[in-house]
Amino acid sequence: MIIVLLGPPGTGKGTQAAAICARFGVPHVSTGDIFRRNLAEGTPLGLKAKGYMETGELVPDALVLDLVADRLKEPDCAGGFLLDGFPRTVPQAEGLDAALAAAGTPVDHVVLLEVPDGTVVERLSGRRVCRSCGAVWHAAHNPPPGDMKCPKCSGQIYQRADDASEAVLNRLKVYARQTGPLVGHYDARGLIRRVDGTRSPAEVERAIGAALA
Ligand code: AP5
Repeated sequence: MIIVLLGPPGTGKGTQAAAICARFGVPHVSTGDIFRRNLAEGTPLGLKAKGYMETGELVPDALVLDLVADRLKEPDCAGGFLLDGFPRTVPQAEGLDAALAAAGTPVDHVVLLEVPDGTVVERLSGRRVCRSCGAVWHAAHNPPPGDMKCPKCSGQIYQRADDASEAVLNRLKVYARQTGPLVGHYDARGLIRRVDGTRSPAEVERAIGAALA
């Protein structure tokens, strides 16, 4: 099963990914997580991506396409995968189409999480994330432990630099301009499954389950 999780920043893609992956037994391939890991480790890829990520701009397509091509060749992706945060531009979608056509395994579903911009801003300003395992909290609705230590892996819980309000507003603009056109790209093939992301995480999970039934 090959699933693409699409939607503006902060709509709950990372929050919902674990349940989808568990249900279909596929790995979670998040380009944002891969870049953040490289950034934390100070790799050349992380250093190239840093400036783009902190201001909410997209990392250049060529870098992203190489990275994803390598990741999808790993053995755990042989039976399918969940793509989160990729593709994000028309050239990235075309690159994915070409790779999947060569492998004879097209995308099965594109889940589009829909949340208004005002809610996105509120969610991202309160988001807190584990630096090690990527677990997510919200300062008001689902507060992290007081010692800011992840209960799952003991990693440090922090606030992403690109969750500062200026970067969030830019990410929304970048999404509308560069990623929005992908809805038409996949809609033309009947692959889009629209899900209202404003409900509670459990309700969103149920709605995604129904959309993929
Ligand atoms: P990436 O990491 O992909 O960020 P994003 O797409 O902006 O998505 P987010 O991680 O911000 O949000 P999310 O939808 O996962 O929401 P979450 O579940 O955390 O990319 C970061 C950067 O990397 C990009 O800007 C770019 O620079 C670069 N990059 C990555 N991929 C790239 C690519 N393909 N091409 C080029 N550049 C790329 O939830 C958010 C908050 O809301 C949390 O606090 C959560 O607890 C809360 N929440 C979630 N669901 C609910 C709910 N139902 N109700 C209430 N609160 C909720």
